[in-house]
Amino acid sequence: MSAPLDSKTPAAAYDFVVVANRLPVNRVSDDDGATSWQRAPGGLVTALAPVMESADGAWVGWAGATDEELEPFENGGISMVPVPLTESDVNLYYEGFSNSTLWPLYHDVIVAPEYHRTWWDSYRKVNQRFADAAAAAAAEGATVWVQDYQLQLVPKMLREARPDLKIGFFNHIPFPSVDLFAQLPWRKRVLEGLLGADLIGFQRPGDAANFLRSVRRILGVTVRGQQVHVQDADGNPERIARAEAHPISIDTESITRLANDPKTQERAKEIRRGLGNPDVVVLGVDRLDYTKGIRHRLKAFSELLDDGRLEVGGATLVQIASPSRERVGEYMKLRDEIELTVGRINGEHDTVAHTAVRYLHHSYPFEEMVALFQAADVMLVTALRDGMNLVAKEYIAAHTDNKGALVLSEFTGAADQLKHAYQVNPHDIADLKDTIVEAINAPDAEASRRMRIMRRQIVTNDVARWSRKFLESLAKSDADISADARHTADKERADHDAADRNRPQ
Ligand code: G6P
Repeated sequence: MSAPLDSKTPAAAYDFVVVANRLPVNRVSDDDGATSWQRAPGGLVTALAPVMESADGAWVGWAGATDEELEPFENGGISMVPVPLTESDVNLYYEGFSNSTLWPLYHDVIVAPEYHRTWWDSYRKVNQRFADAAAAAAAEGATVWVQDYQLQLVPKMLREARPDLKIGFFNHIPFPSVDLFAQLPWRKRVLEGLLGADLIGFQRPGDAANFLRSVRRILGVTVRGQQVHVQDADGNPERIARAEAHPISIDTESITRLANDPKTQERAKEIRRGLGNPDVVVLGVDRLDYTKGIRHRLKAFSELLDDGRLEVGGATLVQIASPSRERVGEYMKLRDEIELTVGRINGEHDTVAHTAVRYLHHSYPFEEMVALFQAADVMLVTALRDGMNLVAKEYIAAHTDNKGALVLSEFTGAADQLKHAYQVNPHDIADLKDTIVEAINAPDAEASRRMRIMRRQIVTNDVARWSRKFLESLAKSDADISADARHTADKERADHDAADRNRPQ
């Protein structure tokens, strides 16, 4: 499908279909008011673009504005299939059920999830719309890969309409423990929705284990290792669904390329000069979200100034907080709190020449982000809970000079792979303060040893490898899956026998 699509294009038949809440494009307008589409920066689309081009692929998703019906179109070799959302859908399905029920519930109830039946009804209705669009786009026997918590009912809806498809699902955010998940009034429907997939991918092994435990406890179905024995409506064995950990990563190569560009390096120096050339630039980059631990970070930094362990002029914290979900109450509240706190810290500590916290409520182009990463001596990722946290990986990728230090919350998925970061529990403010100081004062040789090891990790494990591994596993035949099941059963038997032998007589 290389020609531009228009309304006359017959029902498309794609061999590979991605379904995500958002299309990977942003609308841009030129001076005359004409609009066009630009590829949104992001690892997922970069990783999938080559697969899309070689496999005749389409991306089903929302274009980001309400109440508009768009025809399918092509952008950068990918066929885009827009799914419309009304103002009320955005209100109930996106801001409501996705971001005020599921998001806080799946992030360990950092704020209280709200349960409303009208939100659930809308979630179901909109998931059906995405499933219908994917079913119409997919060719016979195609592979469909559904993304993230906004679309958990799509796998089952899709399988009902199109039993010929291979269906994958990937959850980009954490999956909570069964004790929390059990709060959800529609917990059975969500688990059944996910089990419509052949393969359900999670960031961490712990997320997959939480899901499997919920399936066993809440649905009462048989789980063996990573395999779920799904039954039909009459309770007869129907098929096997699998849950696996596939930690996502970044497009390391394109960040490395930008990092090695002299223009980026010059811009990094300019950023430091603009801050008054402090000895230490500390950086935070987050969507303005309560899961990110921005308040904890500000508290630690301001106490370090109060204690005299850091000094304004010597150290500056640059906090980029990109606007996010701005009509959701908890996000409005958080913004007010953060901005009040930053104002207080700066009011107390700034000098005429220097600022303590340079707070920026903006999004920046990717080139600028790479320059900022390079300009930062220490990066603070203090999330209270985060599926992965790609910013941590991007910071490492941008430091081709092996300089810099990463302070990383142990509650991020990234902490599994970046073992050589300065890992912290962000709730422990005393330890967070000590760790920030330790990272600032790390001897060059120690800092670059850690960086080198972490860089090796993300050079090998980039986002292209992530998607390849997921799709390879999804493509497994029934014979491979039965062989895996036999292997698991043999192992369980051997473990059991060994335990028996070791039991005191
Ligand atoms: C997280 C989610 C994504 C989501 C992104 C931005 O990373 O896992 O699914 O797209 O946040 O949030 P937004 O609500 O603006 O799409």
